Amino acid sequence: MINHLDGGYLRQALERDVRTGLTSEPKWLPPKWFYDEVGSELFSRITRLDEYYPTRRELTILRSHAADIVHRSGSDTLIELGSGTSEKTALLLPKMRVYMPVDVDAVTLRASARRLSARFPRLAVQPVCADFERHLSLLPPGMVAFLGGTIGNLDPEAREVFLNELRSTRKPGDAFLLGADLVKDRGRLIRAYDDAEGVTAAFNRNVLHVINRELNADFVPDDFAHVARYDEENEWVEMRLRATRPMRVHIRDLDLTVYFVRGEEMRTEISAKFHRDGLAEELARAGFALDRWYSDPGGDFALALSTAR
Ligand code: SAH
Ligand code: AVI
Repeated sequence: MINHLDGGYLRQALERDVRTGLTSEPKWLPPKWFYDEVGSELFSRITRLDEYYPTRRELTILRSHAADIVHRSGSDTLIELGSGTSEKTALLLPKMRVYMPVDVDAVTLRASARRLSARFPRLAVQPVCADFERHLSLLPPGMVAFLGGTIGNLDPEAREVFLNELRSTRKPGDAFLLGADLVKDRGRLIRAYDDAEGVTAAFNRNVLHVINRELNADFVPDDFAHVARYDEENEWVEMRLRATRPMRVHIRDLDLTVYFVRGEEMRTEISAKFHRDGLAEELARAGFALDRWYSDPGGDFALALSTAR
């Protein structure tokens, strides 16, 4: 496995993000730190919840259109950003020669790469542990896939930077397959991020366990309530952690003490929802032309296949 997160990169990035986020007003944390081994496993459980429709819908779309997507891409190499368990991606792989899954979670990445190598013996699986907000320039030519709606976890500014950077690494004609969750009824959206079993709540609190372990902090995760809200204006779901009592938290490795008042909310994720026109426009601004828009019958989720211009 190629690892671009060696040499203390991950540690430095975590330190910087935690210091910046926890000293901001209001406090926030970026979602990339949910995903240690436990967080990835919790995310996998989320994908199987009745309330969480995106994974099932994307799978339905891929079952119908994977062959067409691969044919149109004209590529025998697939680079997948934020690949996780690569479960849905398997549908795109039968005719590929090279598959490069890219993820920050090395444990999940290694396990998925092994599983895929066993399942597709002729496929060259080349896992890369990297940050898709930093390391795009290191990726080889081929079709890029960014599935699951993870693009929605970037705020509009970060999304623009990401799309521009990705485009700058591609040649005209290169294919980009993007999964996007679509705007819909707010009740369904909120239920998808606040399930009855509390799996999403555990996923949300996991970021505090990660900070406790990695930076010697003393968060009491159970004293933070899971909050999921839909912001109609921005068309995104926000996950937050709300302090259920006044708290003093010491992050020893940063030599930083932060205070929470009772009821204070810290944002841990946005999950933006899209319309076809808006996404086509964002892609166009970055230099990608939307070629095909594949959606499920209910219009819950979409796969946008575009080409670098
Ligand atoms: N694509 C999979 C997994 C989605 S979960 C699916 O559709 O089910 C989001 C994945 O992106 C996780 O595996 C997480 O570890 C990874 N991830 C999050 N931020 C990342 C970043 N900045 N760079 C690389 N991977 C990232
Ligand atoms: C990875 N990403 C697309 C998920 C989402 O739906 O935004 C992460 C997630 N957060 C809560 N549930 C799932």
